[in-house]
Parts: sequence; C-alpha cells; structure tokens
Amino acid sequence: MATHDGLWWQRGIFYQVYPRSFQDTNADGVGDLNGVRQRLPYLGELGVDAIWLSPIFPSPMADFGYDICDYKGIDPLFGTMADFDALIAEVHGRGLKLILDLVPNHTSEQHPWFVESRSSRDNPKRDWYLWRDPKPDGSPPTNWLSEFGGSAWQHDATTGQYYYHAFLREQPDLNWRNPAVRRAIYEVMRFWLRRGVDGFRVDVIWHLIKDREFRDNPPNPGYSEGQPPHQRVLPLYTTDQSEVHEVIAEMRRVIDEFDQRVLIGEIYLPTERLVAYYGKDLLGAHLPFNFTLLSAPWSAREIEKIIAEYEQALPSGAWPNWVLGNHDRPRIASRVGMDQARIAAMLLLSLRGTPTLYYGDEIGMQQVTIAPGEVRDPFERNVPGLGVGRDGCRTPMQWDATPSAGFSTVPPWLPLAPDSMHENVRNLAADPTSILSLYKRLIELRKRSPALTWGSFELIAAKHDLLVYRRRAADSSLLIALNLGSEPAALASDAIDLQGSILLSTFLDRDHEALSGSLDLRGNEGVISEIADRGG
Ligand code: GLC
Repeated sequence: MATHDGLWWQRGIFYQVYPRSFQDTNADGVGDLNGVRQRLPYLGELGVDAIWLSPIFPSPMADFGYDICDYKGIDPLFGTMADFDALIAEVHGRGLKLILDLVPNHTSEQHPWFVESRSSRDNPKRDWYLWRDPKPDGSPPTNWLSEFGGSAWQHDATTGQYYYHAFLREQPDLNWRNPAVRRAIYEVMRFWLRRGVDGFRVDVIWHLIKDREFRDNPPNPGYSEGQPPHQRVLPLYTTDQSEVHEVIAEMRRVIDEFDQRVLIGEIYLPTERLVAYYGKDLLGAHLPFNFTLLSAPWSAREIEKIIAEYEQALPSGAWPNWVLGNHDRPRIASRVGMDQARIAAMLLLSLRGTPTLYYGDEIGMQQVTIAPGEVRDPFERNVPGLGVGRDGCRTPMQWDATPSAGFSTVPPWLPLAPDSMHENVRNLAADPTSILSLYKRLIELRKRSPALTWGSFELIAAKHDLLVYRRRAADSSLLIALNLGSEPAALASDAIDLQGSILLSTFLDRDHEALSGSLDLRGNEGVISEIADRGG
C-alpha cells in the first residue's frame, strides 16, 4: 500500500478558538487577536495544525459576532486589520493554518445591505433579503420558527412587510436565490483568501436556501414540552433544500481558485443527509462537520453504531471528520465526566478522519453554571430554563492560577470556571499524567503514525462497555480498545492476535507494556497498542 501524504486538512488536527474567550491583551475582559497570537506557542506545543477562529468581524454582538455588519473588517473589540495580518503571518510562520468563520446565511440588521433593503420596497437591495407580505389577517407569512424562539418573521413597519430570520431578529437572512448576493459573498471569500486565510468554516450552510414557494413547515409529531420551541415544526421547507448544493458547489469553485484551501460546513443533519454535503463528485464541502459525537449517548454500542453508519454512508473518496465540542454545545468533560473525557480524547484522535478540538477541552474544561443575572447568550435569554444556554461552554480559557486565570487582568466577560485555580494549563502541563499531557501524547502519536493519520479503519466486535477498532497502514497495525465503563474489562478476541505492545494508555502509565494474548483494561481506560498483523 503506497503511503500518500494527502492534503494538509486531511492530515491535520483542527482547533477551534472562540476569540472572545481565549486571551485578552488589552484589559477589556474580552479576548482578542493579539491574544491568539500570544498563545500560538501553546498551540504549537499542543501540536494542532489549523486554527479556526469564530467570527472576528465588525458586529453589534447580538449573537456574539454571528451577526456581521462588515464582512471585510475586524471588530475593534478584537483588534485591527494590522493585528489580523500579524496573526496570519505568525500562524503561517509557525507552519500552522488559519480558518475563518464565514457567516453567509444572515447579516446583522445593521449591515448596510439590510439598512438599504429595509428602507423601501423598491430599493435595489430589497431582494437581497427575504421579504413577504403579511397574511390577510396581518399575521406572519408562514409558520416558520426562529431557532432562537418565536416566529422567524419580523414585521417591519417602514414597508409593512415581514422579513425572515432563522435566528435572532437582529440577524435577517440573505436571499441566496439572488445572484447578486452570491457574488457579494464570493467576493468576501476572495478578499480573505487573498489575505492568506486557509479556508472557511461556513456557518449554518444547510440553511442557505429556503423553499421557493414559502410553504408552511409540517408539525413535528415527536415534539414534547421541554424541547426548544422551534422544534414544534419540522424544518422541511427551511433547511436542507436540494438547491443548496448548487450554492455550495459555487463556493467550492471560489475556494478552488486558490491553492490548497479548505471548505468546512456546519451542518446538523442525520448522517444520511449530512454526507450529501460532500457534493456531487465530491465538489461540495471538503469537510461537512460530523457532529454525531456531540449528542451520542455515551455507550460503546451506541458509538460503535454511529461510527459504522458514518463510515458506511461516506461517499467513495470522501474524507471523514469528527468533532467533540464547539461553542454551541455542552462541554464534553461535563457531558461524559472527567474520567470518560480521556476516553473521548483517545476516540477523537484515533478515529479515521480529521479531528476538530474545541479550545479548553484539552484541559478538561467543564460546562460552567451561569447565574441567571449573568446570562449573555441570546438563545438562553429568549428561551430560558430549557438548558439551551451556550455561555457555559464559552467561558475563558484557564491558563494559570492568577485571579483571571491568565486570560485577562480584569474580570472576564463570562465567569471563570470555579476550578480554574487548579485546572489550568500551567498546572496540567507540569503533570505528566494530566488530561493535557494525554492530549499532547495522543496528538504526537497520531502525527507520527501513518496508521492513525491515513490507515484503514475496522471495527472489532466487542462486548459490554468495550469499543474496539483497528487502524492499519502499510507497516503498522494499531488496536484501539476503549473502556466506556468504570469497571475493569478484559479483551479477548478471535479476530485479532493480541501480541504486541502498548503505545499509550489514557492513564499514561503503560508505555511499552507487552501484550501476550490478552489485554486487561482498568475502568475508564483506553489503550492504543501496536499489534502483530495476520493480514486479512
Ligand atoms: C451557528 C453558530 C452559532 C450561531 C448560529 C447563528 O450555529 O455556530 O453560534 O448562533 O449559527 O449564526
């Protein structure tokens, strides 16, 4: 089997930085671009290859930057264009890549395009957004619901029409059926690609096109109280429309005007729909984000099923990817517990396909409880009490034991985790058995192992709490055995010859241990071993 070097985004490990919360350098309690630059040595030591920055563009911050009023600028909160240029130069100087967030589905209501669009019915930008007449009784044109609560239609008194917003009313949706909108956003992409960015993570890419006929969404028979209210209807006519693939193919063509850039799509869809986003002839997104682990019930059999379904559904030649956390979902360490967070790390970094880490997960950051008076997230403010709040996974990075955890010199914009005095980079880096040390070892192992980077993937039948698989490249065969339970478990398998040696345990204390026919795992232990290969 020829080893291929592949492309950097296949080989690499991605790391999401939520810029507000990574490192503050100007004492305003909010992280900034110079902060990211200052922490590049840390990311280098960690061993990640590409940094994805959540939005840094001018914004009224109704949705913390996902409401953009200038696609080609930098919000002063984060710095200046000169800071950005310095950051990208240093990122590249260190051999790393930089990915920006592209938010093409909606703008801020303060974007000049929308200001024009709403000014009159015959404004040339009117059709850049989705405007509709009220129903005869004055009510919204359809039953479409905003993801952040309430109708997705906002009445605008100036012209007596409603505009559509899939998220906040401060985030009007662009009309992606209008070619001028497409051209404008493609120009935005070129602007940043020319500046050297290595690609985009495209926000809510599966939302871009809505039903041409504006049909009502059907009720969701599975809805129950306690779920976010927008789930009362099924988004049949508002997301995942077939025409979206034409748009994505166009975006991809823009990406391909430049050398070696990557297109990543944010898509929350079941696996069988998700894989369509690789596009016809794989000319869609390079990496449609695979979020299946974000909501996976934490059991060996469930995860085995998820992996098998995903591997099976991938179109031929499509490159897989896996995500454990992001700025919208509860922290993995809180979801599965600290013991299993190590298993999750080993899983993420030993599966086939590009892994994306969320900042702070490498130090086991927890979901922080936010007091009602301190809630900043508009989703939680609009839909309180259902546990949808996203502040808890966006708290400041815990660098050291100083009062603001080394994140800032002033109180940060969101509270620090109560454990930041102990659970911080400085302490954990000094502890060779910490989760941070585990992440570093895993990343290092993945990067020097063709089997982990490129190798084939094969599930091995296992029982109870064990999840077992093999990764194989030309000259090596690795067995990954993960114990998702807290009881000890022994692996015995007819399918594999357990001869070889342990490369890494999640407890970091079994390096080089020989295997001679069996493998015993402690509770909550995962092990990567090099094993003899009988071929097959
Ligand atoms: C995406 C972002 C999320 C944002 C939403 C609306 O899902 O990840 O943070 O609120 O889009 O832009």
